[in-house]
Amino acid sequence: MSIALIILAAGKGTRMKSDLPKVLHQVASAPLLVHAMKSADALEPAKTIVIAGHGAEAVGKAASEFDEKAEVVLQTEQLGTAHAVAQAKSALAGFEGDAIVLYGDTPFISPQTLDQMIKARAAHDVIVLGFEASDPGRYGRLVMDGDSLSKIVEFKDASDEERAITLCNSGVICANSQTLFDLIDAVGNDNASGEYYLTDIVEIAQSKGLSATSVTCDESETLGVNSRVQLAEAEAIFQAKARNALMESGVTLHAPETVYLSHDTHIGPDTIVEPNVVFGPSVTVENGAHIRAFSHIEGAHVSRGAVVGPYARLRPGTELAEFTKIGNFVEIKNAVVDENAKVNHLSYVGDAHVGARANIGAGTITCNYDGVMKHHTKIGSDSFIGSNTLLVAPVSVGAKAMTASGTVVTKDVPDAALAMARTKQENKPDLAVKLFDMLKKKKAKRQKGAE
Ligand code: UD1
Ligand code: CA
Repeated sequence: MSIALIILAAGKGTRMKSDLPKVLHQVASAPLLVHAMKSADALEPAKTIVIAGHGAEAVGKAASEFDEKAEVVLQTEQLGTAHAVAQAKSALAGFEGDAIVLYGDTPFISPQTLDQMIKARAAHDVIVLGFEASDPGRYGRLVMDGDSLSKIVEFKDASDEERAITLCNSGVICANSQTLFDLIDAVGNDNASGEYYLTDIVEIAQSKGLSATSVTCDESETLGVNSRVQLAEAEAIFQAKARNALMESGVTLHAPETVYLSHDTHIGPDTIVEPNVVFGPSVTVENGAHIRAFSHIEGAHVSRGAVVGPYARLRPGTELAEFTKIGNFVEIKNAVVDENAKVNHLSYVGDAHVGARANIGAGTITCNYDGVMKHHTKIGSDSFIGSNTLLVAPVSVGAKAMTASGTVVTKDVPDAALAMARTKQENKPDLAVKLFDMLKKKKAKRQKGAE
């Protein structure tokens, strides 16, 4: 059976107090919208329609970055959730299958829950995802009659008796696509908000002899983000879950609550992650690596047995081969470091290739940027780069070559050669002691003058 996703993302999210559309605020380095799209990914939707309004261009861009087939439909005026879904009608003309309505600001609906809804469609026409709310607040209430969902009442329109119901509407709805649009055609806006409520389709379905029911999930899945406080709550929920999943899969986290993960962080078993490590987007760490404290890693691939940190920074395009060592206060960007190579202290390696077993001395800098363009540095295998070497790119150092410490490398260094480029040292006999004496006398004279 084909599935079409309709994701509502037109709202401004006034309570976020932000210029950014609400659904583009991030949890675990991905927009809320992408989390919603991801949860439905397992259903392999044939169509994905994102209903955008506020900041539609940016919303569309984020949607197509995740799924290039996603279509964005504009809802210029936000007249209610039914009106929002109705905007998808022409994009889904001729589509045969079920449609699932999701909210772009509700990131944690699980694929299993959506699957349950699809399965429930075998026996009912309209499926609504409900949850037992610990604090039902202003959620719409599901009015059940046995297994049958009679109607949904919005809080504003509910009687005291209905407000006492704790089974609430998550907003997720599933129905045959054609049926959904037929039902929406009959929705009016004669209610407390003057909006076209999607929730009205349940009562309309019942009146047409169609059946409706609810599937329930845990409240934690239905968390919607309306404010910065809720955004932080969502972040905390995501992080706790993701850390647990990593530990369950065999990763050691010394202080799990201090490790920040992204939605797409992959870490292999038997890797150890010390406290206070940040994983930005697109990081893969293979088995048996060791990520030491206070490291910041994004867009990087760390191979088996590598040791990173403490206090290392891996930026996008970093590729660390097996058993490499990246030490404290080292920054690596867009660079490949081959197996067993070491960059142990205080270095910047950017736009570079470091050969196998090379040893990069403390304070080595690849000068990759000339103020206008970026240039590449190649460092050969088994080479030894002396401390405080500046490699002015584009430049290469051959295999088994050496640079003397303090060297500014501006010409390629052949294999096996030693490059030395610094002023020659001269020693002046006794001059140090003479200088000390002179300076001490000067100081004494000044102190006397001040008395
Ligand atoms: C809605 C439900 C309510 C449910 C609650 C769960 C209706 C009428 N009510 O209420 O039963 O308990 O969600 O959170 O459906 N949107 C648009 N265009 C519009 C209106 C809304 O894209 O014209 C989007 C919003 O950006 C948001 C989502 O739809 O992502 C929900 O809209 P919102 O106004 O927040 O609905 P609630 O009043 O919270
Ligand atoms: Ca809401």
